[in-house]
Amino acid sequence: MKQEFSENLLSPLPVVLVGALVDNHPNYLVIGYIAPFDFGKYIFFSLYKKRYTRSGIHQNKTFSVNIPSESLLAETRICGSKSGREVDKGALFDNFYGELKTAPMIRQCALNMECEVSEILDYDPNEGIIGKVIKSYADPECLTDGKLDMRKAHPILFAIGGDYNFYRLGDRIS
Ligand SMILES: Cc1cc2nc3c(=O)[nH]c(=O)nc-3n(C[C@H](O)[C@H](O)[C@H](O)COP(=O)(O)O)c2cc1C
Repeated sequence: MKQEFSENLLSPLPVVLVGALVDNHPNYLVIGYIAPFDFGKYIFFSLYKKRYTRSGIHQNKTFSVNIPSESLLAETRICGSKSGREVDKGALFDNFYGELKTAPMIRQCALNMECEVSEILDYDPNEGIIGKVIKSYADPECLTDGKLDMRKAHPILFAIGGDYNFYRLGDRIS
């Protein structure tokens, strides 16, 4: 007999730090519910309307997605528990900007993407944010023979569906 669950079991997903300029100051929050679609051209994630980062996404219609490595676990915990209303989370990192100019990215994260908002879906009390990936950036240390090697990025994986823990990526099997 299968054990039944009421929760979504699509898991694990990478923990990301989504960045936006709120009143011209960089702010980041942890997003655990995120997915690529249209073969990766777009990114979709779920954002509570009460999040401070939301106002920056609405102000500029841009955001960034930064993939923190395990070495950034402490900073990630702060970004996932403190609001930009109370803590200057932009000051935790070295921020840089790409083509869009209004999507702050984190130099300490191995992988970064800058995105332009293409649609916002109202799923009160959440919003579904859809962004087009405009450009992506990777640290050279994450490459093997010029190709991206995810093992070198040491992403933090977030399990949902009851097992709310962080994991690391395992070995390549194929
Ligand atoms: C593992 C993890 C996953 C999270 N996923 C989401 C999410 O998908 N959507 C969301 O709105 N908040 C999510 N949060 C909560 C926000 O990151 C957190 O409330 C943050 O402090 C909000 O910051 P802000 O108010 O500066 O935007 C998550 C937190 C953690 C620790």
